[in-house]
Amino acid sequence: MNDGTGLEQASQMVAAATAEITAAATPAALEDVRVKYLGRRGRLTLAMRELGVLDPETRRQAGATLNAAKEAITAALAEAAERLGRAALEQRLAAERADVTLPVDYGGGGRIHPISQTIDEIVAIFGEMGFVVAEGPHIEEDFYNFTALNIPPEHPARQEHDTFYLPERPDGTRRLLRTHTSPVQIRTMLAQQPPIRIIVPGRTFRADHDATHSPMFHQVEGLVIDRSTHMGHLKGCLIEFCRTFFAVDDLPVRFRPSYFPFTEPSAEVDIGCSRAAGRLEIGAGGDWLEILGSGMVHPKVLQNCGIDPTQYQGFAFGMGIERVAMLKYGTPDLRTFYESDLRWLRYYGFLPLDIPSLVRGPLVGVGAA
Ligand code: PHE
Repeated sequence: MNDGTGLEQASQMVAAATAEITAAATPAALEDVRVKYLGRRGRLTLAMRELGVLDPETRRQAGATLNAAKEAITAALAEAAERLGRAALEQRLAAERADVTLPVDYGGGGRIHPISQTIDEIVAIFGEMGFVVAEGPHIEEDFYNFTALNIPPEHPARQEHDTFYLPERPDGTRRLLRTHTSPVQIRTMLAQQPPIRIIVPGRTFRADHDATHSPMFHQVEGLVIDRSTHMGHLKGCLIEFCRTFFAVDDLPVRFRPSYFPFTEPSAEVDIGCSRAAGRLEIGAGGDWLEILGSGMVHPKVLQNCGIDPTQYQGFAFGMGIERVAMLKYGTPDLRTFYESDLRWLRYYGFLPLDIPSLVRGPLVGVGAA
């Protein structure tokens, strides 16, 4: 300390430190400068430690000078830290910028499977009518799949279902892969009080395999239970569905008497089509295609679920999803749905943002091809 107060030394140190701080381009470089001057063995720290050997008056002045230098360097460091932080943020903002006005680039990207798209379409239509989606397990108890649906053991309908059974349990009972989505009717009625208005898309299983049958396929079930629900509601609801789904306003819809153990009366539903020149076309044409089963819920089924059939009634329906998907989108072979062939999916699949919604107009998926 040549002038005894350290003034010159201190101002040199501040000038040097400030220059180095200005030059520091990264937080690490800045930290090096801090350690060099203010660290435990830093230049300013050591100078302050030397104050002890001075006489009291000189020490007071030198102390004040060095403290001022320390404050100046500390302030310069803080300012530089903020500057570097801001610069880093700006760099990130520039690098991570996304132009949200660019058109979506589908590139070689994924496609929505026609079964998923069809389920979304069906759910969109019934959703507009006030139905909510319900689901149930694929592995089912005999009670829900058969008995509660008025199909007791030995009933001939059990043979028709080609059921996959799981190994027998110690008590002799067997669980099974559900053969239809109807067990979800039972699960829902046991779990909640009417009014009920559900739609149940999901996988179903039957031991059957050829060009028009797969051991795993999809169904969608519908169930409505209320005090005054009647056959007119069933018809209106399903006619509206068929016309909206196939996007044909005047599509003929026919209800043909049929039989299911869990509905009475029962009806199968046909839609109009033409097969002129070997080409199948949905619409008025004098020919018919069966697309779903339906009926008024059997009083015994209501009773099995603890619902009083003198107070409540309702209707149910079940439809094969592959079948209506094939009809609507012209997929020729059922088995191709499950082959996971990317070329097939690129042709028959749907663009990810082609989300079915009645708000956007008729439900005609544009496909990806
Ligand atoms: N579960 C029946 C089937 O798989 C379809 C159906 C459901 C019929 C509901 C009537 C009512 O064939």
